[in-house]
Amino acid sequence: MVKSKIVIMLVMLVLSTSSMAAFANNFQQDFDITWGDGRAKILDNGNCLILSLDKTSGSGFQSKHSYLFGEITMQLKLVPGNSAGTVTAFYLSSSGATWDEIDFEFLGNLSGDPYTVHTNVFTQGKGNREEQFHLWFDPTKAFHTYSILWNPRQIVFSVDGIPIRVFQNAESIGVPFPNKQPMKIYSSLWNADDWATRGGLVKTDWTKSPFIASYMNFNAQACVCSSDGTSSCASNSPTSLSGDWLKQELDSNKKQKLIWVRQNYMIYDYCTDSKRFVQGFPPECKYAPLV
Ligand SMILES: *[C@@H]1O[C@H](CO)[C@@H](O)[C@H](O)[C@H]1NC(C)=O
Repeated sequence: MVKSKIVIMLVMLVLSTSSMAAFANNFQQDFDITWGDGRAKILDNGNCLILSLDKTSGSGFQSKHSYLFGEITMQLKLVPGNSAGTVTAFYLSSSGATWDEIDFEFLGNLSGDPYTVHTNVFTQGKGNREEQFHLWFDPTKAFHTYSILWNPRQIVFSVDGIPIRVFQNAESIGVPFPNKQPMKIYSSLWNADDWATRGGLVKTDWTKSPFIASYMNFNAQACVCSSDGTSSCASNSPTSLSGDWLKQELDSNKKQKLIWVRQNYMIYDYCTDSKRFVQGFPPECKYAPLV
């Protein structure tokens, strides 16, 4: 009796410490500030991070760990007011010439005009899979949740839990899928007024600088890769955490929401840009979701 209780307690202890390692929510612990010469700051004991941009420089950070599959969630409050010309990026990327990348980019705008959420997926160094959206709220007034679910079946971009884009594994029809190269999480705030707002027509108003984007509540339910090539999701790993997200597909409620977003807020879809793809659409467009 007593012995089994102790075993249960030990198991619970192991489970709770391993999930703490994977669900940690501390910028100090999980990220390195990589550039910006003091413009990026971790505040409030690691609970909050800010990036800033002025005429001299932007700033950025990256995760300490690499991940191979995961559900990566971040809360962001984007640059308020006249943010035209600024870009805040939040993305996953591997390294090397044939890298994989999953991108969220938030293109600023004049006060009162909507941000554009730009998304892209690179596989083996090739992107050209842009989809763009407006949002159904003002992303500068409060923190909102942006997440990337990346599992062997699909990549789902979500905003406040509402899926906006799905990139399915289409390896069976010859489209590479990011499933071999571990990725790190990156974020940066920089000036892109040569293209970002109305194709570069609207320039950054430096009298409004510094521009500031804020981050909190980072969460990675993810397979963490060690430098020796082992993954925390391997079945023999002591911290194996392969949760639901690893197999997750959209349920009918989420599919409805995806349709709602794409019918009402999508402003660009490469899979319908026939001027660009005169020779025919990329093969994965066959799998393009629903709308
Ligand atoms: C800025 O606002 C204009 C006007 O509403 C809109 O067409 C455009 O998509 C917005 N976003 C960017 C990045 O220009």
